[in-house]
Amino acid sequence: MPSTPHKAPAHVSFVVVANRLPIDRVSGPDGDTWRTSPGGLVTAMEPVLRGRNRADGQVDSAWVGWHGAPDERIDAFTDGGFQIVPVELSAQEVAEYYEGFSNAMIWPLYHDAIATPDFHREWWATYQEVNQRFADRAAEVAAPGAIVWVQDYQLQLVPAMLRKARPDLHIGFFLHIPFPPAELFSQIPRRREIIEGLLGADLIGFQVPGGASNFLRLAKRLTGCRTHGDEIELPDGRRSLARAYPISIDAHEFADLAASPPVTARAAQIRSDLDNPKVLLLGVDRLDYTKGLRQRIRAVGELFAEGRLQPEDAAFVQVATPSRERVAEYQLLRDDIERLVGNINGTATGFGRPLITYRRNQVPRDEIVALYRAADIMLVTPLRDGMNLVAKEYLASRVDDSGALVLSEFAGAARELRQAYQVNPYDINGMKDTIMRAVTDPPAVRRRRLRAQRREVFSHDIAWWADRFLSDLAGVARERHRHG
Ligand code: ADP
Ligand code: G6P
Repeated sequence: MPSTPHKAPAHVSFVVVANRLPIDRVSGPDGDTWRTSPGGLVTAMEPVLRGRNRADGQVDSAWVGWHGAPDERIDAFTDGGFQIVPVELSAQEVAEYYEGFSNAMIWPLYHDAIATPDFHREWWATYQEVNQRFADRAAEVAAPGAIVWVQDYQLQLVPAMLRKARPDLHIGFFLHIPFPPAELFSQIPRRREIIEGLLGADLIGFQVPGGASNFLRLAKRLTGCRTHGDEIELPDGRRSLARAYPISIDAHEFADLAASPPVTARAAQIRSDLDNPKVLLLGVDRLDYTKGLRQRIRAVGELFAEGRLQPEDAAFVQVATPSRERVAEYQLLRDDIERLVGNINGTATGFGRPLITYRRNQVPRDEIVALYRAADIMLVTPLRDGMNLVAKEYLASRVDDSGALVLSEFAGAARELRQAYQVNPYDINGMKDTIMRAVTDPPAVRRRRLRAQRREVFSHDIAWWADRFLSDLAGVARERHRHG
């Protein structure tokens, strides 16, 4: 895929820094190839960068990130209209910074400690070293006065490191996952350093207002700095802002793809492959314990067992993309889900399609959208989720306004999508009742609810999100210059 390799990346005025690049290097039987990286961060941020070509066609933006393979050094290259600047990680750094500190400690802790966070003292030094490497790479590519936008929990120390090296930069940070309340955050052994790392940014963005207020309270408590509303007064005389910016998707891109003849035909084919069920229920997730897969599968299994869903009328398709497979909790989840699906399917009496059609693989975007178009009921039931873009993708793809979204109240998206069929995924009986309400409500009711949600997704899309964040960032930077 690299179209134009460069030994030294050129200076650009807009830099995104994220643990992952938008493309991932994978080794297979036919050698090394690239594929789209998993997860919502890449889905959301890729259109933000794609839209930033300069008028004369010159590449003026870059994405700094890891390419997904250990112990491999790759030169920068241009792809999709922006520079790709790979950061290398050794196998030990992958184990300690990525799988360890980021995904066995911060990830569960920030998601309500759904899984027990694992603390190992030696992970901290590696987290610092790798954050420093990302900061150095970003400082190398950023032109004087550039905007550098740091993403997510893997890189919380980068803003302060960058600020130290390059005080000329405008630095933004966005956290894609929840920011926890003080009681949980305070368990982190190096909690003050993390807050100070984030405070290097001019603007710190969260998915929901609760995350921003948790952060403001902790900043005050752990660093002793003063806050005024969403503003933080820092010892060096700077001010940082902490605010909520609910992230979204390129809604038009999903709608266009959904309406395209090949995707429309594929959606019909999927339904026919499933023997044209009256009701098709769908789940699409990364295979992560935050997504509530155990509870969801159990709920649907019970609805079949109790005869509230009839095997000849209803089908449930669950697609789960493998994730972080070397982290113990994820291995446990994978085995549990397979066992659960096997148990439920084993109880079926007929020999037609299985009650649950489970696929554990990454599916191309057009196939995912064909599934969205095929599905009558979308089940998005995480136990905790920063936002959840699958919910918004489903809504954008329902170009004929039919369908229903069953949505966990613990997903960030629930704040905006008030008309979804909201559920508490811990309450399996309540979830079953709400799923049945979504199945049995008159089409006119479902249409009215879906339309309201689609309006929300189209009026607050990814371009709206990026514009708001970047114009607030420019505002803070202007203030800083005025006060010298
Ligand atoms: P997270 O970022 O935690 O994975 P989101 O719901 O915000 O959760 O984003 C998930 C993204 O990954 C979406 O863009 C979705 O389309 C994509 N995705 C989820 N499951 C799969 C899959 N099995 N194959 C391909 N893409 C997937
Ligand atoms: C979530 C996180 C991202 C992460 C993605 C995929 O969206 O917020 O930072 O990139 O999951 O996870 P992975 O560990 O495979 O990068």
